Amino acid sequence: MRVHKIASIPADGIGPEVISAGLEVLEALSRRIGGFRLEVEHFPWNSDYYLEHGHYIPPGGLERLKQFDAIFFGAVGSQKVPDDVSLWGLRLPIAQGFDQYANVRPARVLPGVKSPLHQGSAIDWIIVRENSEGEYAGNGGRVHRGLPTEVGTETAVFTRVGVERIHRFAFELARTRPRKRLTLVTKSNAQRFGMVLWDEIFFEVAKQYPDVQTDRELVDAVTTRMVLKPHTLDVIVGTNLHADILSDLAAALSGSLGIGPTANINPERNFPSMFEPIHGSAFDITGKGIANPIATFWTAAMMLEHLGEQEAARALMKAIEQVTASGIHTPDLGGSATTADVTRAVCERING
Ligand code: NAI
Ligand code: MG
Repeated sequence: MRVHKIASIPADGIGPEVISAGLEVLEALSRRIGGFRLEVEHFPWNSDYYLEHGHYIPPGGLERLKQFDAIFFGAVGSQKVPDDVSLWGLRLPIAQGFDQYANVRPARVLPGVKSPLHQGSAIDWIIVRENSEGEYAGNGGRVHRGLPTEVGTETAVFTRVGVERIHRFAFELARTRPRKRLTLVTKSNAQRFGMVLWDEIFFEVAKQYPDVQTDRELVDAVTTRMVLKPHTLDVIVGTNLHADILSDLAAALSGSLGIGPTANINPERNFPSMFEPIHGSAFDITGKGIANPIATFWTAAMMLEHLGEQEAARALMKAIEQVTASGIHTPDLGGSATTADVTRAVCERING
């Protein structure tokens, strides 16, 4: 029996609702498929915990997390704590501390789901987001606070090592896809230093992947291409900020933010990787029982794949697609099903 140790951090808002749905589905899978078992430990780190203790992650917390095979994360963000405090208090220390530099974000229109795009069925993308530096490196400061002369700087950091490794990751991924296409996204007309470095390193790395067809696009232009010519894109590689924005667009174009999954990968496996839906805490629907759990289920499938449980990952994706195809949809997809209805339906498909 293969045992995988999972750290569950549901955190804030709808996080606990979707993570508990996700764990239910994972439990059903391991019972049904057999051969593996998940040993789940829950961590109560969220914004209420922060307000009570003064920190999201207690001293020694990352050392504890390091013992796990994967982290299953909900969402962090509360109306009681400024967003930069919550993000930098919980999610970023894990992603940066565990060198999860490759943020992988697939987008596809699942069966039965309606894309707002006429040609939505052509969407089959994976966005690879640099996840350790760039615009979210945390490099900047504020001076002359409160004065008319106040200044805030936010300096993006791009290193050769950081850029080269994300490009290499994206090429390796593109190589595994039927179309083997990779689009480089930057803004190297207006930003002359870091972005030009990105372009240069991309084409250096490209020489080692002659089987991958490449092209490049400025970040503003690629948004129009995503909407107007979705079939021309396959794998997209972009910086921390750019790819963050593009992946929300990708999720919305594939039907809802409630569908998009993401994996924060440490490819060398020196640390656990972290799996989370791309959406946030969704204050407007918290506690109503109507959060779409599909993003979390798809995320769970990515986690299983990372853990080497390919059969379970495939079975889960199949069950998800059967349920979306059957029209059991939460309100964000135009339906009236609850989180529990969708979860039950997926478990039933798993149990066959
Ligand atoms: P959000 O993703 O929480 O919500 C945006 C819209 O999408 C809302 O209308 C929401 O109801 C809807 N939505 C999101 N997930 C859904 C689901 N599973 N089912 C149905 N509808 C869903 O983004 P927003 O409003 O910008 O941020 C809210 C909070 O979440 C903030 O504190 C923000 O900092 C945090 N956040 C955290 C993230 C993370 O932990 N990785 C990512 C994005 C935001
Ligand atoms: Mg985002």
